[in-house]
Amino acid sequence: MAAIKATAVRVIVVALLITAAAAADAYTNHTVGGDAGWFFNSTTNKTSADYNAWAANQTFSLGDYLIFNTNTNQTVIQTYNKTTYDSCTMDDSLDTDTFQYGGGSNQFGSATVISVPLVIEGTQYYFSDADDGGQCQHGMAFEIKVSHGLGLPPSLNQPPPPAYVPPPAAADEGQSPPITVVTSPPSGGGMRTSANFFGLVLVLLVVLSFLALGTV
Ligand SMILES: *[C@@H]1O[C@H](CO)[C@@H](O)[C@H](O)[C@H]1NC(C)=O
Ligand SMILES: *[C@@H]1O[C@H](CO)[C@@H](O)[C@H](O)[C@H]1NC(C)=O
Ligand SMILES: *[C@@H]1O[C@H](CO)[C@@H](O)[C@H](O)[C@H]1NC(C)=O
Ligand SMILES: *[C@@H]1O[C@H](CO)[C@@H](O)[C@H](O)[C@H]1NC(C)=O
Ligand SMILES: *[C@@H]1O[C@H](CO)[C@@H](O)[C@H](O)[C@H]1NC(C)=O
Ligand SMILES: *[C@@H]1O[C@H](CO)[C@@H](O)[C@H](O)[C@H]1NC(C)=O
Repeated sequence: MAAIKATAVRVIVVALLITAAAAADAYTNHTVGGDAGWFFNSTTNKTSADYNAWAANQTFSLGDYLIFNTNTNQTVIQTYNKTTYDSCTMDDSLDTDTFQYGGGSNQFGSATVISVPLVIEGTQYYFSDADDGGQCQHGMAFEIKVSHGLGLPPSLNQPPPPAYVPPPAAADEGQSPPITVVTSPPSGGGMRTSANFFGLVLVLLVVLSFLALGTV
């Protein structure tokens, strides 16, 4: 009986993981500037890509991410306020509509990747305020429009929806096998699922046939 229960819990956990993976596939990660990334050459005053042209060629939806491949010579400022965007500085901006991502490094030129989730529909703006706004003034700036698409995935929804982790699984956590399933490599996951599923079906069939025999 315990084995059946454990198997059932495993099958449910694996099914939830597969569902989560399938949902994640429906959202897009947009690498800003494509292969050229998010870079500014302060010697030539040139950006590594034309960011507004890049953005014009993409469809952005809720739940997508912007991926900034960059280094610490550039910043990533997100704003919903066109005045702030046009000013190329966040000096006078409001905490409620303008956010800086990454940062915290005072070393020049350290490679970094900054991921920004798109969580609000409508127009929003990005720029680098480095070089006292000079980067932004020379094209380190772009505008995007975020459409509803599939809506936010649960992982980005605020507040997070309750009842996402089934309580019985949490109670069993101490001694039961689901943990080993969760940490097992994804490559073997599919095989294991079907093996477990077949096992469960077999056990059910055996139990059912015993019941049937008993009633004859
Ligand atoms: C998209 O980027 C986010 C944040 O870095 C990451 O968690 C997610 O796995 C990425 N998705 C894909 C499909 O690469
Ligand atoms: C900036 O451009 C100059 C001239 O093309 C080049 O020599 C230099 O290596 C570039 N700097 C960076 C950091 O890419
Ligand atoms: C826009 O995307 C298409 C197809 O992905 C590509 O062929 C084209 O070069 C892109 N244009 C720009 C300006 O990036
Ligand atoms: C936009 O930001 C400016 C400061 O940069 C502020 O004065 C203005 O009130 C903001 N606009 C809105 C609509 O919040
Ligand atoms: C970063 O900026 C500093 C100062 O402008 C410059 O000397 C350095 O070459 C830059 N590094 C990279 C990788 O762009
Ligand atoms: C780059 O732009 C700055 C102002 O942001 C200017 O002072 C500088 O002369 C420019 N350099 C070149 C090579 O155009």
